[in-house]
Amino acid sequence: MLDIKVTRTATPKAKPADENHLGFGKIFTDHMFLMDYTEGEGWHDPRIVPYAPLPLDPATVVFHYAQEIFEGMKAYRTADGTVQLFRPDCNANRFQDSADRLCIPRIPADDFVQAVEALVDVDRDWVPYSDGASLYIRPFCFANDVGLGVHASKHYIFCIICSPSGAYYAEGLDPVRIYVEDEYIRAAPGLTGFTKCGGNYAASIKAGELAEEQGFSQVLWLDGVEKKYVEEVGSMNIMFKIDGKIYTAACTGTVLPGVTRRSIIELLRDWGYEVVEGKLAIADVMQAAREGKLEEVFGTGTAAVVSPVKELDWKGEQALIGDGKIGALTQKLYDTLTGIQWGKLPDTKGWTVPVKKMF
Ligand code: COI
Repeated sequence: MLDIKVTRTATPKAKPADENHLGFGKIFTDHMFLMDYTEGEGWHDPRIVPYAPLPLDPATVVFHYAQEIFEGMKAYRTADGTVQLFRPDCNANRFQDSADRLCIPRIPADDFVQAVEALVDVDRDWVPYSDGASLYIRPFCFANDVGLGVHASKHYIFCIICSPSGAYYAEGLDPVRIYVEDEYIRAAPGLTGFTKCGGNYAASIKAGELAEEQGFSQVLWLDGVEKKYVEEVGSMNIMFKIDGKIYTAACTGTVLPGVTRRSIIELLRDWGYEVVEGKLAIADVMQAAREGKLEEVFGTGTAAVVSPVKELDWKGEQALIGDGKIGALTQKLYDTLTGIQWGKLPDTKGWTVPVKKMF
């Protein structure tokens, strides 16, 4: 249990007046959580302080060698005023897996969740009231040694910031066009694909920019060895409904084990769908589209929730999905998941965690 010291801001900022145009990750709340790690001492000085720039030496390791990991979570306000999190233990555990791979010292899962809850409690008034808007939470941790040697640091900073946010894609729930990336890769066996480390995203930006220039929202990554099997999309996992069955890449080291992904799979199995977690060749996806069997495609992620896909482009061929509108199953998944998150549907799975008033 952390002993968190709270210092409140003397100059609170104005909250956004228009919650319908928040965008994603543009506005930040009044406070942030900080905790330091020093080799030999462990994690220490957990504190909530006014949101402010971090003074860092230019030779700080993270700037040079990207020893950094992060998480993405949300807090939701329900109709009765409760503020709740969604499966925060899953984020805490994944943060530990990312930490292990990047040689960052673990934060105990209970401490991670306590820190998130404490910050959300202090900035509770920032959790949006409007439908579809939530408080996006970004925990992250980075190497804070000063020096240019390539080795694991002896000092780290764990920080959490929060941003009232709307839909991740400007399209909202409108189906998006996805470019199947045939040149660049995101991950390969033995690398960091299963972690949420900044480096994975840095390496993905070029392909994303090129795809955006051509009017696509994101790229679909293929496996890094044969460039044959579908893996994930820039900021989401991806699922395909082909002839009644749902297919998605297995989490075998190169794919991010998404919290939304696993929740959606649980819902689908409860509803009697067969979900295949395994290798799905992009050639088979295109063939299914030609035969009229590619019924629905959707991305899943914390920021994007469930995002319908209307078109895939691979090597100059287009696969058009359904009639270009959101599919019935995609809509049902979106309604069910957001229903549970915003407290409009009963949470029979115990996925939501109310944030108690502490401070
Ligand atoms: C999330 O869905 O929370 C993510 O972290 C994706 C992010 C890169 C926007």
